[in-house]
Amino acid sequence: MDMNGTVAVITGGGTGIGAAVAESLARKGAAAVVVNYSRSADEARDTVARLESLGCAAKAVAADVSDDAAVRRLAARVHAEHGRVDALVCNAGTTRWVPFPDLEGLTDEVWRQVMGVNLMGAFHCARAFAPALRETRGAIVNVASVAGLLATGSSIAYGVSKAALLQLTRDLAVALGPEIRVNAVAPGMVATRWHIGRVGEQVFSEMAAKEELKAPLRRTARPDHIAQLVTALLESDLVTGEVLVGDGGRHLQY
Ligand SMILES: NC(=O)c1ccc[n+]([C@@H]2O[C@H](COP(=O)([O-])OP(=O)(O)OC[C@H]3O[C@@H](n4cnc5c(N)ncnc54)[C@H](OP(=O)(O)O)[C@@H]3O)[C@@H](O)[C@H]2O)c1
Repeated sequence: MDMNGTVAVITGGGTGIGAAVAESLARKGAAAVVVNYSRSADEARDTVARLESLGCAAKAVAADVSDDAAVRRLAARVHAEHGRVDALVCNAGTTRWVPFPDLEGLTDEVWRQVMGVNLMGAFHCARAFAPALRETRGAIVNVASVAGLLATGSSIAYGVSKAALLQLTRDLAVALGPEIRVNAVAPGMVATRWHIGRVGEQVFSEMAAKEELKAPLRRTARPDHIAQLVTALLESDLVTGEVLVGDGGRHLQY
């Protein structure tokens, strides 16, 4: 797909990886980028301002992706305002930090929240936007995680939600072909508020330095590295049902 003149929707597009994807698509000539958010209204507005300065008709739209009715309203609004959708990036994600052995800490409420956003949120979006994407022969990219491939990450619930998202990616690739391609990226550790907001800059840079020693490319991902992968998958006309790992090769060795 040539991104020039396209309309893209990015869930969780106001911050971190989602904002970098939005900027990447704007730089590729997307005519409009819809920046979805649930709580971070100020960040979404800042992202929209950056996209507008690149000549892209951006808009911030609130919707909690775990709420199917809200996602359907989002899809209806985008279709009414833009008349088309070419790209959907299901980037919205959440977690709860629960050590793996603490099974009692993994309450049903934690499972419901994490699965509700990371898995059901992506499904709600795919279902609501499928008719519009079919018309344009568009593409979906889901933002998963290496935690969906390996037993690692912030909690068991998070890893299971991302593993399920990878399976959803393959299943939707079959279900929505030949018109719509569906792929996923699986980032390793990325320098965003996800970690930095929790542990602070200093501790994060120490964590990153340790991780870098274990990765062949010896570097920590920035949001724009992951945006490169998402953009490449949107543009790759013969690829569907695939997962592209972005972790500098960290997962290759143990
Ligand atoms: N950073 C990493 O190391 C890393 C590694 C692997 C995968 N990932 C994945 O990358 C994605 C983006 O994370 P990030 O690192 O860029 O952190 P981030 O800046 O915190 O991004 C998370 C985004 O998800 C949105 N979101 C959360 N719940 C939502 C909901 N119910 N409805 C709509 N949007 C919602 C947030 O927006 P609001 O604040 O408005 O809710 C936020 O924009 C996530 O899916 C995460 O699992 C991150």
